[in-house]
Amino acid sequence: MTTYRIAPSILSADFARLGEEVRDVISAGADWIHFDVMDNHYVPNLTFGPMVCQALRKHSSVPIDVHLMVQPVDALALAFAKAGADLVSFHPDASAHVDRTLQLIRGEGKQAGLVFNPATPLDVLEYVIDKVDLILIMSVNPGFGGQSFIDSALRKVEKARKLIDATGRDIRLEVDGGIKVDNIRRVADAGADTFVAGSAIFGAPPYRNVIDAMRSALAR
Ligand code: DX5
Ligand code: ZN
Repeated sequence: MTTYRIAPSILSADFARLGEEVRDVISAGADWIHFDVMDNHYVPNLTFGPMVCQALRKHSSVPIDVHLMVQPVDALALAFAKAGADLVSFHPDASAHVDRTLQLIRGEGKQAGLVFNPATPLDVLEYVIDKVDLILIMSVNPGFGGQSFIDSALRKVEKARKLIDATGRDIRLEVDGGIKVDNIRRVADAGADTFVAGSAIFGAPPYRNVIDAMRSALAR
C-alpha cells in the first residue's frame, strides 16, 4: 500500500506571511513543505535562500523538501542542509559532479534527491541511484508556478517507477508542476507517490478543501 504525500509549494504562498502560511497549510494536512529555491541563473526567477529556510524551520512540524533550481549547486546544498532542510534535491545538469553533490548532502545526514526537467532523460540514475533518496520529475519547465502539466512527464514517471522498484529500496517518486485535483490520480497511476502543488493549494483557500479533495482522488 503506497503512502501518498502532498507537498504544498510555498512558491505560491503569501511571502509577506510565510510563517503563518506554513503553519496553516500544515494544519490543513500538508505532509511536507516544498521549498523552491530559484537563483536567476539556472532559472529566470529569484526566490529565497537558506536564511528563510532557517527562519521557517521553527514553524514547520513536517519535513522541509528543498528543491534547488540553482547553479552551481554544492555551496547552497550544504547551506540548506545546515539551515534545517530534511531533503535537498538538485538538477543533475546543474552540478559539475553529481555523485559528489549527492554524497555532500547525505554526509550532512539529509536525504538527497535528483530532479529531471521535462526534456532531461533519466540516464544519470544508472550510476548513482544507490545514493538517491528521492527522484523528482518536473511536469513543467522550472522557474514559475501556475504552469500547465506537460503530459510526457507521465511516461517518465512510469520509467522512474520501474528503476526504483528494481532497486528494492524506498526511494520517493515526486512530481512537480501543474498538479491539480483533476490530474493527481493519473500521476499516481503512473507510479508517483509524492505530489508538489503550489497554485492549486495556495490559490484556492481554504487549503484543507483542496488537500482533502486531492486525498480523496488518490484514495479512489
Ligand atoms: C516550478 C516549481 C514548482 C512550482 C509548482 O519551478 O518547482 O514547485 O511551485 O507550482 P504549481 O503547482 O503552481 O505548478
Ligand atoms: Zn519545486
